[in-house]
Amino acid sequence: MTQALPGRLAVLNTKGGTGKTTLAIQLAAGLRRRAPSALGDLDPQGSATQWGTQAGLAVLTADDAWRQAVGIRHLVWDCPPSVDHPAAQRALREADAVLVPVLPSPLDLWASWALVEAIHAEQARRPSLRAWLVINQLEPGSALSGAMREALGEFGLPALRAVVRRRAIYRSAALQGATVYQLGARAAAAVADIEAVIEEIQA
Ligand SMILES: Nc1ncnc2c1ncn2[C@@H]1O[C@H](COP(=O)(O)OP(=O)(O)OP(=O)(O)O)[C@@H](O)[C@H]1O
Ligand SMILES: [Mg+2]
Repeated sequence: MTQALPGRLAVLNTKGGTGKTTLAIQLAAGLRRRAPSALGDLDPQGSATQWGTQAGLAVLTADDAWRQAVGIRHLVWDCPPSVDHPAAQRALREADAVLVPVLPSPLDLWASWALVEAIHAEQARRPSLRAWLVINQLEPGSALSGAMREALGEFGLPALRAVVRRRAIYRSAALQGATVYQLGARAAAAVADIEAVIEEIQA
């Protein structure tokens, strides 16, 4: 089934702080259990480079991030929080799939509308491009609010059924420079979140 996972996956949102770097790191870690994978840090802030390197992931920075190194099957791009940034635009043009992490609030969702229009424009040019929203930081045990479900229905981009919950372990993983796959039993629920995302983005 690894054949159907995207070769180049862009984690992209125009809005800052929605969990792009967190998800890019954890997805690269999960994908690497299936096939050789690397993390491409397209954000000049460089936080994915620092975190990913500490966590032992293969990290490609700057120009190298565009080249799928020989033997790398899955490349995950952590993008800067802007659709106008040249790296984000290039990622959108070259990705096989785009994952847009959004916080579980309608206001946060609508703040990403310009990005959805850019994704639709790219899909019109290149119908093979797959794209999904992924809800990040939903309170454990709680369901999506009715307002959020309604907003998702109007948003024009499918949302994954898999949801990434708000869990302290994601923050500790960042502080420790680790992936949740390296943190043992206390990270099992977070690993299950990430695995569910990976399972669902297989065609
Ligand atoms: N599921 C989660 N549970 C708890 N904390 C989270 C979760 N996802 C992200 N965070 C925390 O939220 C903050 C923002 O996450 P992150 O840096 O991944 O967002 P970003 O979209 O990459 O931000 P930027 O736009 O600045 O690049 C971080 O402190 C991170 O640890
Ligand atoms: Mg980031």
